[in-house]
Amino acid sequence: MRRYLYIACAAIVTAFAAEAATPPDAIKYRQAAMSALSGHAAAFSLIFSGKVEHQKYLLAHAEAIAAISEHVVDMFPAGSDTGKTTALPLIWQDAEGFRKAADTTRVAAAGFRDAVKSGDKAAIGKAMKPLFDGCKGCHDRYRKED
Ligand code: HEC
Repeated sequence: MRRYLYIACAAIVTAFAAEAATPPDAIKYRQAAMSALSGHAAAFSLIFSGKVEHQKYLLAHAEAIAAISEHVVDMFPAGSDTGKTTALPLIWQDAEGFRKAADTTRVAAAGFRDAVKSGDKAAIGKAMKPLFDGCKGCHDRYRKED
């Protein structure tokens, strides 16, 4: 057990020591983070619509969405535009517009988290639309159709 722990720690230390992420890893990272956004949104909806009982986890999903939405721009470093990605070159050509799209979503996600914290169902329902409009708005403009 100890040995595995050591190996895991060594891997983490090596990861921290690495310089910048290579483009394939940068792409994998953002795809994983984006999938996490969807996963949390799906989990949230199942609870919010009453299909499952896990009320006490509602806020955890909203907080995760808000936290991940904080650093969307950083997930698209220069040079990560080619490879197994559906990111469009426009992200780097129109960096200002992309930043705005990310920022709008970041603010919407924070508002959503705060609404969930308040526990007010109507406020939560109202806060969901700008959040999902944010995801969709960015995807429509900056992501290739699958
Ligand atoms: C500012 C732009 C932007 C915002 C905001 C954004 N996305 Fe994305 N998303 C992208 C781009 C660009 C890709 C393509 C990434 C790639 O393939 O390298 C992507 C990919 C994805 C993917 C596919 C991941 C994969 O495995 O290929 C999912 C799922 C996703 N986003 C969900 C979301 C959800 C849910 C939200 C909102 C809570 C969101 N995204 C917000 C730009 C954005």
